[in-house]
Amino acid sequence: MASPSRSGVFAAETDQRLEAYAESITFDSRLYQQDIRGSIAHADMLRSVGLITEEEFTQIRKELEVIRGQLDRGELPMRFELEDIHMHVEQALIDATGDVGRKLHTARSRNDQVSTDVRMWIREALDKIDELLLGLQRAFLGRCEDDFDVIIPAYTHLQRAQPVLAPHYWLAYIEKLQRDRGRVADCRARVNQSPLGIAAVAGTTLPIDRQQTAAALGFDGITANSLDTSSDRDFVLESSFVLSMIASHLSGWAEEWILWSTVEFDFIAIPQQFCTGSSIMPQKVNPDTLELTRGKSARVMGSLQTLMLLVKNLPLAYNRDLQEDKPPLFDAFDTTQAMLELATPIVAGAELKRESIAARIEKGYLDATTLMEWMIRKGMPQRTAHHLVGAIVGAAMEKGVPLAELPIETLKELSSEIDESVYEVLGTQNAVAAFCSEGSTAPQRVREQIAVWKERLA
Ligand code: ARG
Repeated sequence: MASPSRSGVFAAETDQRLEAYAESITFDSRLYQQDIRGSIAHADMLRSVGLITEEEFTQIRKELEVIRGQLDRGELPMRFELEDIHMHVEQALIDATGDVGRKLHTARSRNDQVSTDVRMWIREALDKIDELLLGLQRAFLGRCEDDFDVIIPAYTHLQRAQPVLAPHYWLAYIEKLQRDRGRVADCRARVNQSPLGIAAVAGTTLPIDRQQTAAALGFDGITANSLDTSSDRDFVLESSFVLSMIASHLSGWAEEWILWSTVEFDFIAIPQQFCTGSSIMPQKVNPDTLELTRGKSARVMGSLQTLMLLVKNLPLAYNRDLQEDKPPLFDAFDTTQAMLELATPIVAGAELKRESIAARIEKGYLDATTLMEWMIRKGMPQRTAHHLVGAIVGAAMEKGVPLAELPIETLKELSSEIDESVYEVLGTQNAVAAFCSEGSTAPQRVREQIAVWKERLA
């Protein structure tokens, strides 16, 4: 059978090789729910403006629902000559209803149809991602009370820098994920504009009502320019950027916890359900889930790259190149979803190795900056204090002790401004307690933030 898109203008049959080359049904069948919902809304609009009769609409809707059932059960055969999901559904309708079905495509093109379907699909997928992001935020938040007593080194350049409360780390990830959710929401607003009714590229001469279909399909409004809309895939690229940013956050987190789970760090135990063994080394418990999270993030970012390249040289408006947007789009969503689904139980179930962390927390002079600020409070210029504390750290290194174990005589030799009260800020416990600024790891500030997030994520 010839493709329904081949009008009477064609004298030759389609080459078989082109049929296989051009089909998208193998991947866009994922849009069938959206396609049928969009078609019913479109037919309903055609009825209300008088382009089809009440009876025709009833028949179309009924038959489209039957087709939906067939698709649900995988009963509608794929035929490459029908190219995509849009023509499969339409042809099934025509096969069942004849001329009535032949009216469905009135004032519609696959160009506005595919954009409508994909926008509806992305909208739902973004909602799912947002739900998963919220779940992951809750997993981090759920750890905050239990881990409140644990002090961990904060690193810069992956060198020990300053001491922080473990929940300060967890809250850091909650913030990142919140920005991700903000991007999801912003993106969703631009996705959720109805393209339906721009038809192929210039609009239609028929008296359609675009507002009606937009409202029926849950869009916030309609797109304003038919040429722009026919060509526009910004929403596909933008959503894949949003996913890439999420993937980047998850990859950084995975890398950190992979390091933390090594013998060298020994900060965390990843739940064994999410680890694998080695086929030769019996002692191995490998953090494969986290490694795959780091690895799969590359796929998500690769999708964004593919999409950027896909659209960059396209003249207005629709070009068939755009069909190639779906595999990277779907893959980016599927991959990000899987990454989030696995991150959440790992975050919730991992155990901090309290003793191991505590055994080495006084190494690395995490309290040096606190000491410097103590000198500043005494009236010493920052640069002078910075230099002095460097010398004090040098003396401690020589003796092989932490700052808190330097005898007062040694300290006084290095600066006459130091007295016994200096010990109140030395040692990581004291150093953490000395913080006060907003956004810092000060226990009171961290408590406030936990309370804020408990309310926000409730
Ligand atoms: N399968 C096509 C796509 O995904 C649908 C639009 C086809 N439009 C066209 N004028 N051939 O882009």
